[in-house]
Amino acid sequence: MKHFLAIADLSTAEFNSILATAKKLKAEWRKRGNKPILKNKTLGMVFQKPSLRTRVSFDMAMLQLGGQALYLSPNEIGLGQRESIADVSRVLSRYVDGIMARVFAHAHVTELAKYSSVPVINGLSDHEHPCQAMADVLTIVEHAGKLKGKRIVFLGDGNNVARSLMYACMLGGGQFVCSSPKGYTIDDESVAQAQKLAGKSGGTVELIEDPQAAAKDADVLYTDVWASMGQESEAAERAKIFPPYQINSALVACAKEDCIVLHCLPAHRGGEITDDVMDGPHSVVFDQAENRMHAQKAIVALLMAGKRSKK
Ligand code: CP
Ligand code: NVA
Repeated sequence: MKHFLAIADLSTAEFNSILATAKKLKAEWRKRGNKPILKNKTLGMVFQKPSLRTRVSFDMAMLQLGGQALYLSPNEIGLGQRESIADVSRVLSRYVDGIMARVFAHAHVTELAKYSSVPVINGLSDHEHPCQAMADVLTIVEHAGKLKGKRIVFLGDGNNVARSLMYACMLGGGQFVCSSPKGYTIDDESVAQAQKLAGKSGGTVELIEDPQAAAKDADVLYTDVWASMGQESEAAERAKIFPPYQINSALVACAKEDCIVLHCLPAHRGGEITDDVMDGPHSVVFDQAENRMHAQKAIVALLMAGKRSKK
C-alpha cells in the first residue's frame, strides 16, 4: 500500500491488514500504551475544510506512536490557489514523512498523491471518507461481532461517508443497504464498482427508497448530515426532503432488537438523528469517534513505519 486514498482502491488483504493492525494497536494502547514505531516521523495535515475528529485523532495517533503531526489550516496553503497542487505536494513531501489531506474534490487528493514522494492519506473528499469507513468497520466488529453477513443500513444522503462504507462492506462481506430520497442515493457507477469489489466476499448492495423497509431487521443503522461541507446552499431545501430518513425511535423499532446506531459526527441533533437515539442504548457513536484514532494509527503505521525518517 503506497497511499490510502479510497476504500475502493484496497485489496481484501490490505483491508484486513488495516483492521487487524487497528485492533492490535488499540489493545496495546489500552494495556500499556503504544510503542514509538513512528519515532521522528512527521505527518503534514492539509485541511481545506473544518474538522474536530480528523484533526485531533490524527494528531494523537502520531503523538502516541512517537511521531508528530503538523496542522495546516485552510487559509495557510491555498491548495491550488496560492500554489498548484502539484507544487504543494512536491514541496511538502520534501519536509514530512506522510501527508494527510481533507479536500473538496477527490481529484485534488489523487493529484497530491501523484506528485508526492511520501504516502498520502485521504482525510475526506467529496467522493470518499476512507478513514471513517475503517473506524466504522472496527466499531461494527467490536459491537456486532463481525461484518460478514450483517445488514448495514445507511439512511440519508448517498454521500462520501455512505460510499466508503459501501465499499468497506463489499470487502468485508456485509449486506449494505442505502436508503435515500429520490435523486440522493449513491450513483450507479459507484454501486457497480462496489459490486465488482465484492468478488467472493458475499457482500451485497441494495438501494431501498422506503426508510422503514430498509431499516427492517438491520444490524446497524447509520446516518450522516443531510448537507455535507460545501453543500451549505442546499441545506434548507434538503431539510424539507430528508425528514422521513431521520433515525428516531420509530425507525430503530424497525431494526433488530440489538441493533447498533452509528453516525460519523458531527451530528445535527433533531435533524438526521434524534437526541433520544443518539444518547440511547443502541448508540455507539462515541466509541466510533474514538476508533478513528485507532484505525488511523493502523493506516499511518502501515504506510510510514520502518521507512527512513526525514527528521
Ligand atoms: N467524522 C469526521 O470526519 O469528523 P470531522 O469532520 O470533525 O473530522
Ligand atoms: N458527509 C460529511 C461528513 C463529515 C465528517 C461531509 O462531507 O461534510
